[in-house]
Amino acid sequence: MSEETSIRKIEHIEVVLQEDIICPGLCNDIYSQIRVIHKAFPLLSLEDINLSIKFLGKTLDAPLIITGITGGHPESLKINEKLAALAEKHGIAIGVGSQRAMLEKNDVEIVETFRIVRRKAPSVPLIGNIGINTLQDLSIRDVEYIVEAIDADALAIHLNPGQELIQPEGDTRFTKKALNKLVEVIDTLSVPIIIKEVGNGISMEVASLFYGLGVRYFDVAGACGTNWILVEGVRAARKGYRDKALLAKKLANWGIPTPISVIETRWAAPNSVIIASGGVWDGYKAAINIVLGADLCGIALPILKLLVRKGFNEADTFLANYINELAAIAYLLGASNIDSLKKSPFILSSNLYKYFEQRGIDLNKYMLIKHQNMITGEN
Ligand SMILES: Cc1cc2nc3c(=O)[nH]c(=O)nc-3n(C[C@H](O)[C@H](O)[C@H](O)COP(=O)(O)O)c2cc1C
Repeated sequence: MSEETSIRKIEHIEVVLQEDIICPGLCNDIYSQIRVIHKAFPLLSLEDINLSIKFLGKTLDAPLIITGITGGHPESLKINEKLAALAEKHGIAIGVGSQRAMLEKNDVEIVETFRIVRRKAPSVPLIGNIGINTLQDLSIRDVEYIVEAIDADALAIHLNPGQELIQPEGDTRFTKKALNKLVEVIDTLSVPIIIKEVGNGISMEVASLFYGLGVRYFDVAGACGTNWILVEGVRAARKGYRDKALLAKKLANWGIPTPISVIETRWAAPNSVIIASGGVWDGYKAAINIVLGADLCGIALPILKLLVRKGFNEADTFLANYINELAAIAYLLGASNIDSLKKSPFILSSNLYKYFEQRGIDLNKYMLIKHQNMITGEN
């Protein structure tokens, strides 16, 4: 079983590097349906822009996270080591991939593939990771162990029913039992919980459910980037599960696009820290998601790809450009910092406007919520 988890993690990396597993149509024009307002007189110069924010009690140089990717296989060690070095260099947060393998096999080598991250990124927020379906089988001591073993500042609990549905060995138990265990964990764990999707987005109903349980951190991981239904579809096809592979193709556009998910989540969970991820692959998209109501942005696949295919320096340059782009957009919007960027107005296409009307989200009220939320006990 533990061997299986570990091998699956490597298969995931192979598939995302080899195959086209990006949402095909859903998000092509979503960003063109969101306008922000150019400021012909920004009342500042580019050097005045300060992108730093407080997150999990630490200061980030830019509002960014390298979200959970890997761990648990000997090959993950090198990847995590380099990802951590990138996070430390740029002063941004970092997450590890699911720590399930650590619990299944108490093997020093496996644990080391996760622990390396704190060693190489001593000063930035580090986020642990486990699935909510796995969580229900764990003791509180297990949960404390995965946090303490890597010296994490928070624990991301991922929701991935789409992925589990298609995964040949998938675990679809997203039930009340898992919620009950989550409540117990929220009550006892010394670090905050982040509720995180993996690429299909969080709706206002789901955000509201977890907000009601006391969760104050969300990573929307919306549909616009890495598509885990397609990733598992490729694995299913390779292993001969034709029905699952076919279903994955039919569901290729399933999910909530990231910018929409940001608004839905902020609406339902007003006083929370919201991470926009899922195809937020350049500084422009990052800026737009922050204007829409996110506090910070997450990236996974592009950094992994650059690191594995082209090496550390290319991944490093990508991050530097990303951060410069974000600063450039903040400059053009006359926002000297992230709080001010969050206050910037936005205009939606009539299609998107109607979408929110049908969802019962009053955009005038939404603007007030977004502007008041400056933020959440972090500052
Ligand atoms: C190879 C790979 C492995 C991943 N493994 C995990 C994981 O174990 N746990 C998790 O919560 N998310 C995992 N993710 C999802 C990412 O954290 C992120 O939510 C998702 O890929 C969307 O971001 P992106 O579009 O920038 O890739 C993984 C992503 C990649 C690319």
